Amino acid sequence: MIAPSLLSADFARLADEAQRVADADWLHFDVMDGHFVPNLTFGLPVMEAVRKVSPVPLDCHLMIESPERWAPGYAEAGARNVTVHAEACADPRAVARDIRAAGALAGLAIKPGTPLEDYLDVLADFDTLLVMTVEPGFGGQTFMPEVLPKVRRARELVDSGHLTLFLEVDGGISADTIEQAAEAGADVFVAGSAVYGADDPAKAIAALRALAAVATAG
Ligand code: DX5
Ligand code: ZN
Repeated sequence: MIAPSLLSADFARLADEAQRVADADWLHFDVMDGHFVPNLTFGLPVMEAVRKVSPVPLDCHLMIESPERWAPGYAEAGARNVTVHAEACADPRAVARDIRAAGALAGLAIKPGTPLEDYLDVLADFDTLLVMTVEPGFGGQTFMPEVLPKVRRARELVDSGHLTLFLEVDGGISADTIEQAAEAGADVFVAGSAVYGADDPAKAIAALRALAAVATAG
């Protein structure tokens, strides 16, 4: 699945920008609070407005402190998937329960320096694992291939039936990097600048999808 990130869109034209990626699978919505990450974007009222006009289900990535307080609201507002950061959660399983009870898939995100092994037990309660391939906070950063062993390990655990998860990668995904991520086992690819920075976002999505499909098949 390809999930364009609205972080790289024109914030003055969010409805049009959502329409431009109508053939994507999820629309990635990066919520930043200026505390968990040193950047500030948009929150629930903007998500509710975008959800009403988006042809694509929303994938909300909460880069915020105290996610237990806010995450269920995004699910109630109709997000398809709501992802919280492991580093910000006192009790990730409780957050997953609340997100699912409010009707969304529950995602757990880990920063590049956060070990996967610390969260293997709690991942049984999640639907999505988001492996950050840059430090969270900004679009347009350089992909970190050193994170891919975590994707490979998670793919093994999914393929052997120990976990049932979408494996999402986020940060620096482009035509130059998506094959490595797909080969490692990712199946959801967030792309901000590579989609919204392209002259034709629909073409960029199709090209990314084709590259990922070939790499996965190989
Ligand atoms: C970064 C965000 C990403 C960002 C990716 O903290 O979580 O979703 O939009 O942007 P690119 O694809 O440009 O790295
Ligand atoms: Zn993101």
